[in-house]
Amino acid sequence: MAAEAELSALLTESRRFPPPADFARDSNAQPEIYERAHLDRLKFWSEQASRLKWDEPWDQVLDWQAPFARWFVGGKLNASVNCVDRHVEAGNGERIAYHWIGEPEGETRDISYAQLKDMVCQAANALTELGVAKGDRVAIYMPMIPETVVAMLACARIGAPHTVVFAGFSADALRNRIIDCDARLVITADGGFRRGTATALKPAVDNAVAGLDGVRNVLVVRRTGQPVDWDDARDRWWHDVVAGQSTEHTAPAHDSEHPLYVMYTSGTTAKPKGILHTTGGYLTHVSATHRLVFDIKPESDVFWTAADIGWVTGHSYIVYGPLANGTTSVLYEGTPDAGGRDRWWRIVEEKQVSILYTAPTTIRTFMKWGEQFPGAHDLSSLRLLGSVGEPINPEAWIWYRKHIGGDRCPVVDTWWQTETGGIMITPLPGITATKPGSAMTAFPGISVDVLDNGGKPVDNGGGGVLVVTEPWPGMLRGIWGDDERYRQTYWSRFDELYFAGDGAKRDVDGDIWLLGRVDDVMNVSGHRISTTEVESALVSHPSVAEAAVVGATDAITGQGIVAFVTVKGDAALDSKAGEQLIADLREHVAEQIGKIARPRQILLTPELPKTRSGKIMRRLLRDVAEHRELGDVTTLADPTVVNMIDEMMATTTHPEE
Ligand code: PRX
Repeated sequence: MAAEAELSALLTESRRFPPPADFARDSNAQPEIYERAHLDRLKFWSEQASRLKWDEPWDQVLDWQAPFARWFVGGKLNASVNCVDRHVEAGNGERIAYHWIGEPEGETRDISYAQLKDMVCQAANALTELGVAKGDRVAIYMPMIPETVVAMLACARIGAPHTVVFAGFSADALRNRIIDCDARLVITADGGFRRGTATALKPAVDNAVAGLDGVRNVLVVRRTGQPVDWDDARDRWWHDVVAGQSTEHTAPAHDSEHPLYVMYTSGTTAKPKGILHTTGGYLTHVSATHRLVFDIKPESDVFWTAADIGWVTGHSYIVYGPLANGTTSVLYEGTPDAGGRDRWWRIVEEKQVSILYTAPTTIRTFMKWGEQFPGAHDLSSLRLLGSVGEPINPEAWIWYRKHIGGDRCPVVDTWWQTETGGIMITPLPGITATKPGSAMTAFPGISVDVLDNGGKPVDNGGGGVLVVTEPWPGMLRGIWGDDERYRQTYWSRFDELYFAGDGAKRDVDGDIWLLGRVDDVMNVSGHRISTTEVESALVSHPSVAEAAVVGATDAITGQGIVAFVTVKGDAALDSKAGEQLIADLREHVAEQIGKIARPRQILLTPELPKTRSGKIMRRLLRDVAEHRELGDVTTLADPTVVNMIDEMMATTTHPEE
């Protein structure tokens, strides 16, 4: 087995796909870019920043008081002006910003940059009328509709940092985020469409804001037309408050370091972290990476990031990056199989999508469905493919290139995180000879390394953990309200180096392969979920005494959540009661966090394997969950416990979602 794995690693490591000739000739990035950025990193980034519209120039590119960075110090700009007004002023108002495609068949809206500008100005005026001022936080809990983008840009315009909460999160999760950043307004919709049915959002918001005096208004977009409960004192319809506003709005210039948004992400504790991004550096980073990694030609490309706006990928590569570059994007509301398993490929064909950016888990789902679905459509408009969110296995990479990219489109595997703001490690399609499964090299102007446990850079062929060695413009500026946690989480493992939490290796050529998280964070369908967060959701159930959660390898979702739970009292449950409790627990986790965190499998066990000092040995539970031979059990207080669990696991069926 080990020899086989090694052999296949060798085969893929040496397999290369050189850039196609047209990319090598015409792409936005040419080989000298690496040298230029290497010689003077700050000059490189200031050149990228100069492509934006600044109301006042900066006097210093970087002020680095480790671990706190300020980029483009003294500069002033408005992110919303950079994303919309400037393109209209340049004569591109008629260009489509979004081909929006609703999940119900036939429901589409094309929104030009001129229209987007009017919508954003109206929304900015509405927010001001509702009393939202610069610096106030606004929570956004929305389906994938144009108003979501408009709401974000209106916030950016008036300088009110937004916090978009993925609509799949529960009322409890939303409430915690609203409280943590003390949001004054929540923008939502009555509901959205998902897998052919209208799902509700407003009831979750009603529960989330109950009793929170800090939330003065809830602004509601009518999307599905379903009935909603209404609080006259608090709730406002978007069409009442926004539609009648002026389409003129003079945008103020904000400091380069003015907070743009807070995005919550899971860490190794139960409490999600509010990752703070600011304006000038973030916009520079996302627009530069978008333009160079995806080789954007705004006059002709149709770009599609198939992710949800509620995650950082949506923020950076559906909203801020593409709009800053004046690009036409697809914005699709639904799931990949709504209206048929070829829905995406119909969209590509109809909208002439030229660049597609998605996650390995989705690619693996398409593989499972079969190549006949993409095969039935003309995908010749595609010229470039991207991957993000988790390590991509070479098989999926090659399938993607062949069956979606017609063996002609380069594939860029991009590594980054909520914290990094934008892409950090990636091939450049006109320069890099790619290897299936490798994110290859740092983007120009970004410095990364792979260190061993002692903090020494590994040689080629070696593995360790990934660090970023120099500050970068899109970096998080901190954790909302918790500087100490910021230092502890990212800057305490190695002195003045950013610890990403990912394992990585350098192959014989020095190219980088990402190996997944090295902490207690799982990656399920490209979503980051903390084992501790799921454990604490489980133990909040009245029947649960103790819970241990591990991420087990899953052929489709990358990892699946497996929970080991001991129940209170010593009453042995019969199998019917046990099944009922398992169903209740899965529901309970969905309520506490959201459906994405619902365990794939729950095993009710009489005990958990612990060391003599009482620490749960998750490593062994991972072995159990993955049906592997158990590792070293000598430190266990009672080795029979894990053997018993292993046997239980072997005799339990494995329910797939
Ligand atoms: O483990 C890495 C994985 O996703 C984590 C970041 O998750 P999140 O903040 O939710 O952002 C996801 C979208 C940028 C990373 O720590 N990850 C992301 N991209 C890749 C990846 N792992 C391997 N290869 C990638 N291309």
